[in-house]
This record gives sequence, C-alpha cells and structure tokens, in this order.
Amino acid sequence: MQRRTWGLHLLLLLGLGLGSWEALPPPCESQIYCHGELLRQVQMARLYQDDKQFVDMPLSVAPDQVLQRFSELAQAHNFSIPQQELQDFIREHFQAVGQELQPWTPEDWKDSPQFLQKILDPKLRAWAGQLHQLWKKLGKKVKPEVLSHPERFSLIYSGHPFIVPGGRFVEFYYWDSYWVMEGLLLSEMPGTVKGMLQNFLDLVQTYGHVPNGARVYYLQRSQPPLLSLMMERYVTQANDTAFLRDNLETLALELDFWTKNRSISVSSGGKSYVLNRYHVPYGGPRPESYSKDAELAATLSEGDHEALWAELKAGAESGWDFSSRWFVGGPNPDSLSSIRTSKLVPVDLNAFLCQAEELMSNFYSRLGNDSQAEKYRNLRAQRMAAMKDILWDEEKGAWFDYDLENGKKNLEFYPSNLAPLWAGCFSDPGDVDKALKYLEDSQILTYHYGIPTSLRKTGQQWDFPNAWAPLQDLVIRGLAKSPSARAQEVAFQLAQNWIRTNFDVYSRRSAMYEKYDISNGGQPGGGGEYEVQEGFGWTNGVVLMLLDRYGDRLSSGTQTVFLEPHCLTAALLLGLMLSLLPQ
Ligand SMILES: *[C@@H]1O[C@H](CO)[C@@H](O)[C@H](O)[C@H]1NC(C)=O
Ligand SMILES: *[C@@H]1O[C@H](CO)[C@@H](O)[C@H](O)[C@H]1NC(C)=O
Ligand SMILES: *[C@@H]1O[C@H](CO)[C@@H](O)[C@H](O)[C@H]1NC(C)=O
Ligand SMILES: *[C@@H]1O[C@H](CO)[C@@H](O)[C@H](O)[C@H]1NC(C)=O
Repeated sequence: MQRRTWGLHLLLLLGLGLGSWEALPPPCESQIYCHGELLRQVQMARLYQDDKQFVDMPLSVAPDQVLQRFSELAQAHNFSIPQQELQDFIREHFQAVGQELQPWTPEDWKDSPQFLQKILDPKLRAWAGQLHQLWKKLGKKVKPEVLSHPERFSLIYSGHPFIVPGGRFVEFYYWDSYWVMEGLLLSEMPGTVKGMLQNFLDLVQTYGHVPNGARVYYLQRSQPPLLSLMMERYVTQANDTAFLRDNLETLALELDFWTKNRSISVSSGGKSYVLNRYHVPYGGPRPESYSKDAELAATLSEGDHEALWAELKAGAESGWDFSSRWFVGGPNPDSLSSIRTSKLVPVDLNAFLCQAEELMSNFYSRLGNDSQAEKYRNLRAQRMAAMKDILWDEEKGAWFDYDLENGKKNLEFYPSNLAPLWAGCFSDPGDVDKALKYLEDSQILTYHYGIPTSLRKTGQQWDFPNAWAPLQDLVIRGLAKSPSARAQEVAFQLAQNWIRTNFDVYSRRSAMYEKYDISNGGQPGGGGEYEVQEGFGWTNGVVLMLLDRYGDRLSSGTQTVFLEPHCLTAALLLGLMLSLLPQ
C-alpha cells in the first residue's frame, strides 16, 4: 500500500512537472531540512505524529553522505522505499531529537525575588513561586558541536543560553521571548535576558532579520517585531546604556528589513500611504508541517500550490498560525485553504512597528544622535497618520485590519484590534473610551475566562474558543494605561478572569499551557496543527506580570466578577429552588 503511494507520488511529481515546486526559492538551502526528495519522502510517509520531529533530528554523518546514500536507497527500490527501510535509514543517519541542546540552570536564578512579596493572596503567591522555579526547567544551552558542525543540525547555533516556550518548542522563538523576558525581569534575571537579546542581535547581524525561531527551516520568515521593545525593557531595568549604544545599529538594521521586505503601499481617498504586512515569498510546504501543507495543497489546483504555501508561511510569520483572521475575503472564510495573509494590513504589526519607531527615536536622542532621532520620529508620525486614515474606524471605535484587494476593513473582532492602545500609538486620548465601548458592543466582557482570540469557531488554534496570554496582555495593558478609571477597572477585571483560568487549570493539572479554551469554564486549549503544549514561556510571563501589577487585589477564589444581571437573577432563582427542595 505504502509502496504504491510513493511510486505514485513520484510519478505525479515527474508527470505534473516539478516546475511549480520551484517557482519560489525554498525556505533554506538544506536539501534535508528545507526541501528535496528525502524531506518529501520521509514527511509524506508520516513516520512521526508531528512533522516537526524529523526536521529537528541532528545528522550522524555529513549531509552529502546522507543524500548520497538516500539516492542509492531510492534507486535500489525503484523510488518507492518501503516504510521499514526508510525507518532504518533514518535510524542509521540521524540522531534523536534534542541531542544538540542541554538543560541549563540560569546563573542569575535566585530564591524569593522581591515581586513575590507584593502578592497578597497566599495561594497565588505560592503559585508565582512555582512559576519562578519553572525558568530552571525551560533553560537550554546549545552544545558546542552545533558551532563546529552547523551543517549537521537544523538548530541555529546561539552563543548564549536561553529560555524556551516548552513542549514541542525546544528552541527559542521571536515574539514569545518578549513575554518570557518580562517574566525574567520580574524574577530579577537581567543577565539571562541580556544573553537572549544578544542571541537575537546576532541573528540580525547574520541574516538581516530575526527569524521566526532558531531553526534553519524558519529562516525566511520572521515574527511580530518586538526586538526594540525587548531592548528598552532590559536597558531600563539594568541601566545598561553601553549595551544599547553597542547594538543600536543592529536594531535599526532589523527595522530596515520590515521597511524593505514587508512594506506595502495603500491608496485611499486620493492619498497614498505606506504600511506593513506579513509576507513570505518562499515556496514549498513548511518543512515542520510538510505533510499537512501538502495535503491542503492537494485540495486546490496545482497552479495555486505555491501561493498557498507562501500565505501559510506569512500566517506563521504573523504569530497567528492559524486564524480565520487570515481567511476573510477568501472563497471559504472558515477554511485554511482560503488563507491570504499577505493581502491584509494587520493592526498589531503596524502598532508594534509604530512603537519600535518611537523607541528608536528615544534611543537615539538618549545617545545624542538628533538626526536619527528625528528620522524615527517622522517615520512614526507618518505611520500614525496612515493608521488613523486606513485602520481606525471612528464609528466602531477601534482599529481594523485592512483588506488590500477588497479595499475595506475587516470588521470582525480580534484582541489585536486594540493593539494601538497597548503600543501607545494613537493621538486622541478619547480613543480609549471609544475602544472600551467597542469591547462592550462586541460583547467581549461577557466572556468570564479570558478574552477570546476571535468570535469564529473554525477549529484553528487562533480562533474561538481559544485564548492566548499575549493577547490578554495587549488588551489589559492597553486599557490600564488609560487615565480613565473605568478603563482601569475593566483592565483589572480582565486580569482577574485570566488569572483565575490559569490558576484553576494549574490547580487541576500542575501545568501551564500555551493557550486556554475559555468555553467550558477554562481548560487547556485545542485545535490547530498539533496537540496543546505545556510549559509555557509566554503564559508564565504574562501571569507573573499580572500578579506583579495587581498582586494586592487579585484573588485565587472562585467568585465571579462579571456576573451579568440576568445571570445573577437566574443564579438566585436556582438557589431559591434548591433550598425549597425536600431534604
Ligand atoms: C519502476 O517503477 C516504475 C513506476 O512505478 C515502473 O513502471 C517500472 O516497471 C519499475 N521498474 C522496476 C524494475 O521495477
Ligand atoms: C529581503 O529583500 C532582499 C531584496 O530586496 C532580499 O535579498 C532578501 O533575501 C530579503 N530577505 C528575506 C528574508 O526575504
Ligand atoms: C545609570 O547609569 C549611569 C551611567 O551609565 C549612571 O550615571 C546613573 O546613575 C545610573 N542610574 C541608576 C538609576 O543606577
Ligand atoms: C547618527 O547615526 C547615524 C547612523 O548610524 C550616523 O551615520 C551618524 O554619524 C550619527 N550621528 C551622530 C552625531 O552621532
């Protein structure tokens, strides 16, 4: 059965023309980890539950030898290698996953960081102490072999140890690391943060941008740009101006990448604007999700495969992989095959860049370089004007992704619609109250276990009913910054909801998760391409931030904060009826 399928695959490939597979360059040069027949055969044989496993395996011999022997094997079997032989081949030429990393206990980890004392609820304080312990479990260091023989690994060497998200994610990721660093700074571990920052800066020096994560198959795509913010948080906490001075040009280089490779011009009302989008013009299935991408492509006509794969990579670059947010305007807005990430101008991406431009301007003035400070001030002003004209909707009171092809905003709810509040990227102070009203109008405050990622249930992990830690932070801190007492109170209540969900699940499972399902009283999330992961870097970071900010008020108890009047009445009635039942 299996043999025939492979033979057929090869025939199809030869018959229908390899051409379309090569229309766009591969995600990296490696003919083992990024493209080529070996990758295709192994991933399409589905030897592992998760395609990421194979592309994370180190080689035990040089890549040339592996390729040579694979070619011999394929010929010996007339290009349809039986499953057992393929497995034997991998056992002989590859090592088990994780061999290239070693556990690492951060040197600056210490007992009892100060912020724990601010947490009054004893159960929450004990929990925070356990999360603080978790940094030791999530610490990793790359073995020196990766430096001496980089060609044998998909892992990209980094000179400094780091904290990983956890679960299947044993390497570090770009935007995850920002929330991890916030947690580390509360844990009084600036040394660890500095090392992680140095790793990112080294990547910018080598590749001109920060890849999605530290694997070669992630090289040609980035993730939401938060490097300047990471720098600001570290430099402020550690008062390390020398580090800022040494690396400011590298930060500028990273922003150049977003300008040169990810800008898009938008015309509206007779004016032309420049904003940014996620866009990854590289071909082939994602190596780490190869069989899924290939299967999905098989539902479309051959000529559409490359475009689909590029849009999937752009979806991964957005950090929201995957979400109906990127399917709107497609033929089937609930289906991944409709993905069109690069056709949308995302609110959060432009808010992040707007914030980065402000930070760069401040960095340069701090170091006395006025002309550069002015340059970034101007870039920010231009972006703010564009965001106001293209993304802001005065009637709704929020910002919305802009659809480039259909020339209109996507009015669906996503927490990212409030990212400009979080990023401080708006000029009218009244916008906060409008945004609060928008949250109420969208009925978002009726969800008691966390802010949903969207209101569409598609089975994708960045959709309802999943809720993600970084998105809670975007909304909570966006509102908390406001001078309005009501916005601040809503921020607190949202924080209380999220803390309770995380704490309840932790109490039951002794684990922190990548995402939570808020539909049934709060539980680990699901959906998407892989099983929900435990760990978990950014979730822990956000919990620590909320416990630090609201430690004097948060409670581990189960009283519901947002009880709607009609629910309250129902609950009282139910209580009354129960009390009337015969004992
Ligand atoms: C090799 O495979 C091709 C296509 O599957 C088939 O036509 C051919 O007869 C096979 N040759 C041998 C020697 O098995
Ligand atoms: C960015 O664009 C330049 C050409 O303008 C190209 O050489 C480079 O490879 C691109 N970088 C990425 C990561 O796509
Ligand atoms: C920060 O460092 C500068 C020297 O770079 C020093 O003058 C200043 O006092 C330091 N500030 C704090 C709060 O430690
Ligand atoms: C400001 O920074 C730019 C870009 O790095 C540099 O070319 C210029 O010499 C700097 N000016 C001053 C006054 O330091």
